[in-house]
Amino acid sequence: MKIFIGTQEEIAKKAAQRYVDLLKEKPNAILGHATGSTPLGLYAELIKLNKEGALTYKDVTSFNLDEYVGLDGSHDQSYRYFMNENLFNHIDIDLAKTFVPSGLDTSAETAANYDKAIEAAGGIDLQLLGIGNNGHIGFNEPNTPFGSCTHMVELTESTRQANKRFFNSIDEVPTHAVTMGIKTIMNAKSIILMAIGSAKAPVIKAIVEGEVTPEIPASVLQLHPNAEIYLDYEAAALLSK
Ligand code: F6R
Repeated sequence: MKIFIGTQEEIAKKAAQRYVDLLKEKPNAILGHATGSTPLGLYAELIKLNKEGALTYKDVTSFNLDEYVGLDGSHDQSYRYFMNENLFNHIDIDLAKTFVPSGLDTSAETAANYDKAIEAAGGIDLQLLGIGNNGHIGFNEPNTPFGSCTHMVELTESTRQANKRFFNSIDEVPTHAVTMGIKTIMNAKSIILMAIGSAKAPVIKAIVEGEVTPEIPASVLQLHPNAEIYLDYEAAALLSK
């Protein structure tokens, strides 16, 4: 895994450059997007670059990692809403080519169709990931099988607590989500994982320097041929070199 360390601004700019390079080479790339606080700096940078004409999303297709069960895309805490608000509504992407798992139809068939749609599009060229304090990627919580495809999951208490900052109370935080599986993520041709802040430092040390184990889902990235990790100084603080 290649690791880049810098200020939040530096890593957002460096990650954005990967998108500029990819979209220059492959304007119709398939991009895997993530939600949460971490990608906001990158998304702001991508919006700026798009407005300046440095990159276009006109032929891009996007697949998001996950969605809360029970939230319709018009709910302001749904991940569809997040993507529209924080990226899609500000760039020249065709909204019809943006996909987020359904939080309302949680059938196994619909989940399997999400993986099929990714495959039919040609596979994800670049998958963006954040990481949970417990090592989750997407909403693949600890001990999710590495062979998992898109599926419905029960969120752990630690994830619900971490995400309650976006809701009025813990009771409003959904208990379940639909997420790309670990296999779906690992099938991406390249992966960028970003982490910001000291709360992520222990898990970053574990995934970079520890063993590959389903107990820490993001550790699987050690097995990916083209995974890059972008860290701010706080998130990198516990790395030994
Ligand atoms: C979001 C996602 C999650 C987040 C992770 C970190 O689509 O799949 O894995 O990336 O929970 O969230 P933040 O960035 O808010 O710390």
